[in-house]
Order: sequence, then C-alpha cells, then structure tokens
Amino acid sequence: MYELYPYYTNDGSVGLFSPEADDIYHSTYGALTEAYEKFVLPADFEKYFSKNNQIKILDICFGIGYNTKSFLNYFLEKILEEKISKKNMYIETIDTDNITCNDKIYTDNVNCENSLHESMEKTNFSNKNEKSDIKIREHDSVENKKIKIFIKAIDTDKNLAFLSPFFVTGKKIRRKEKINFHQDKIEKMLQKQNGKKLPKKRLKDETNIILLEKIIENHPEILEDAEIQQILYAKKYRRYFDRYLRGLFKFYKFEKGKYTPLSRLKAYLHNIYYRYISKRQKKALNTLKLLDFNFDLKIEDARKILSADDNIYNFVFLDAFTPAKCPCLWTVDFFRLLYSHLDEDGMILTYSNAANVRSAFIEAGFFVGKIYNDAAGKFMGTIAVKNKSLIKNELSEYDLGLLKTKAGIFYRDENLTGQNEAIIAAHEKEVETSARISSSKFIKQWKRVKS
Ligand SMILES: C[S@@+](CC[C@H](N)C(=O)[O-])C[C@H]1O[C@@H](n2cnc3c(N)ncnc32)[C@H](O)[C@@H]1O
Repeated sequence: MYELYPYYTNDGSVGLFSPEADDIYHSTYGALTEAYEKFVLPADFEKYFSKNNQIKILDICFGIGYNTKSFLNYFLEKILEEKISKKNMYIETIDTDNITCNDKIYTDNVNCENSLHESMEKTNFSNKNEKSDIKIREHDSVENKKIKIFIKAIDTDKNLAFLSPFFVTGKKIRRKEKINFHQDKIEKMLQKQNGKKLPKKRLKDETNIILLEKIIENHPEILEDAEIQQILYAKKYRRYFDRYLRGLFKFYKFEKGKYTPLSRLKAYLHNIYYRYISKRQKKALNTLKLLDFNFDLKIEDARKILSADDNIYNFVFLDAFTPAKCPCLWTVDFFRLLYSHLDEDGMILTYSNAANVRSAFIEAGFFVGKIYNDAAGKFMGTIAVKNKSLIKNELSEYDLGLLKTKAGIFYRDENLTGQNEAIIAAHEKEVETSARISSSKFIKQWKRVKS
C-alpha cells in the first residue's frame, strides 16, 4: 500500500517526508508559511493584479499543493475582496436555483431574488432582474471582466496531488508528536525551529473546497480511485485530513451523480444534501462564480509536460527536491525550456540559493536576483526574470564570485530525458575534471580579503 510520512510542522500545517528521496517535502519551519514566504509574498501579486485581470501560473512539483493553495488563499483574502470593494468586478448570471440568500435556502426564484436584491443593496451592487436570472453589472473605468486564473500544476505523484485539498492546516502543535518514521531526525529539525514561535497559519475553507471542485472536474477518476479512498479513511492518517472535506468527498462520490437536472429541486431539499453541502461549500461555489478559474493538473514528468505545452506563464513556482536529489529539474536545459514559457515580464520563483542553480539560470538567458525574507531577515531563494527591472535584490559580488567556483557548475540534461542518477554522475565527472577553484577555497580567500 502507498505510504505517507506526515507530521505537523511548526505552523500547524502538515509536512511530509520522502524515504526515497531521503528528503523532506516541506520545511519543518512551517510548510504553509514557507509557501507564503518563498513563493507568494516575493511574487507581489497585489502589484500584479493592480494592472492585470488575468494570470497564468505554472506550479512545478505541486506535491500537496501548498504553493497553489497559498496563492489562491492570498488571492481570495487580499485581492478578490479589494477588487469587489473597488467595484470593478463583473458578475454575470447567477443561477438562483443554486444559491442561498441571507443564509436561507430558497426553493422559488421570486423570494430568493427579492432577498438577493436586499443583500446586494447592502453591498452596493446595482442589479437587473431578468426572469430567473440575476445580472449584476458594475461598469468601472478600469476593467469590467471576470478575473481569469489559469494554473497548470505538475507532479509525478498522483496520490499527493489528489489528496492535496484534504490536508489540515492551523492545527495546535503538540511538541511531542509521535511519528513512526525518522522520529529523531524530524524531531531534531522541529526543535531547531523551537526558538522561533511561528503563528499558526490556516487556509480559508474556500481554498481547499475550490481546489477539490477543480480536481474532480479535471480528474473525475479520483472518485473511483481505490488508493485515495484507502489513504483518506486509514485510521493512522485520520488526524492529518480535514473531516469536513472527507465528508464532501463522500458526498461527491455517492450522492452527487444521482441528481439529474429534473430531480434537482427535490434533491436540493434532500437530507443528505443538507448534511454534506454546508454553507462553507456554497460560499466557495459562489466565490468560484466570480472567477474564470481553470486548473490543469498533470500527473507526469514536468519536462515532458512542458515540452508539449505552448502556454506562456506570468509566474512559475519551482519547488523540486534539492538539486543534489532531483537534478533533472534544475538543469540548464530545463531552464532553457522554462525560458521559452515565461512572459517577458514573468518571474520564476524558487527556494534554492544554490550557486549551480543560479549559474544555470544565467546560462539559460535569465537575469537572476535573490529573494529577501522579511520575517527571517535574510535572503532565501532565487528569482529568475527576463525583465531586469523586476529584480529588487541583485546578486552580490560574493554571490557572483561563488558562481565561478566548482559550486557554480550546473547540471546538464541535453535531451530532457536523463535519469537523475545519470545526470548526477555526469555532473560529478565535470566537477572533478574542472580547473575552477573549489567553493571552500573561494570562501576562505573572500574572508581573508574582507578582513
Ligand atoms: C519538494 S516536493 C514539492 C512540495 C510541494 N510544492 C508541496 O506543496 O507539497 C517535490 C515534488 O516533486 C515531485 N517530482 C519529482 N520529480 C518530478 C518530475 N520529474 N516532474 C514533476 N514532479 C516531480 C515529487 O513527487 C514531489 O511531490
């Protein structure tokens, strides 16, 4: 049976360990916090959405989706509300069969519409009533369109991707959490963070519900997937999954398909429906109506998917295991492929500070900068862009010096089909035979000159 190795990280979100990669998927510092600090905040989405009403994001190594979920959550909390309050949203045709008004379920359109009119007046929406539809149009000088979001997410592990909406966040952390794998290793890593108490971080309910909706829409086979059911309902994993989301999954699996359009009204009043479709889900579905949200989840090697993809992205999240474990996604050849998929004002974000990652980006044609983490007060991660003016923190003289050492020798994968082991072996050989100085020698020399 497929095994998960979950534990709670320091911000109350679930982190995973991979025995095959002998690596953690997420920082013990806080899986969700890390996604915010390394991917979402440096992207400056507020600035982006002040000028744009559509976005294309590529999430490479989606895993259990923290980067996509953090983006969505940030978008719903910080950007959508702002856009609505500035009245530059365009809400088109709300099907009154499917909505609740003032927290009540209406079975006839007249009452529902009346109630909706009242609530819209309160929120300053103007409206136009047309039979059973309600049209709300806010004409504004900036834009009057729905916001278009397109996210392409790629991972080779189907189980992780399908389970992504179910993981709990914001859990109260028990310092002495018992886990039955690498207890010492994980505990040590968790203790290292103990000095810094992180605030608990939670995702809005809508974020996970919207993600589940989209995954089911994209991959209906999830409802019949025996492995997913096994993991979701296994006793040993129960505390890592959200009960409500599991209930919703059950509803989709056993109930939703039975409701034909004809029986919809009846079904709407049905007990089971009440039990599973709560206010939370209706809120999520109504939020979805404000967006044109396309989520394209691919379960494949990212190199293969991107080689056959013709999208141009505004943001790329690159969250592969470290270069020494998974070099195939850090090679100069893969970065050249990314170059051809990045918008002229686009940005690639990654947590890696490695000299060979930065030199590979430069070799592939990018300008490279560093990500400054305000909370930690230090540089953590790298951005790669085509438009140099997007870089806030340039590489220092020291960083550039490191790129010229053996540590700056990048990985290669000319045909984009190499196995990690072969890429590592070829890289080791190149480092061994290189005439460059070692990074340790460079660092010593640097310290001497500086002192
Ligand atoms: C560090 S984890 C990513 C964590 C993830 N962003 C999250 O929020 O959970 C690395 C991921 O890379 C995936 N992976 C490994 N090799 C890959 C490849 N060649 N193409 C796509 N995904 C890959 C693994 O399945 C794993 O989920």
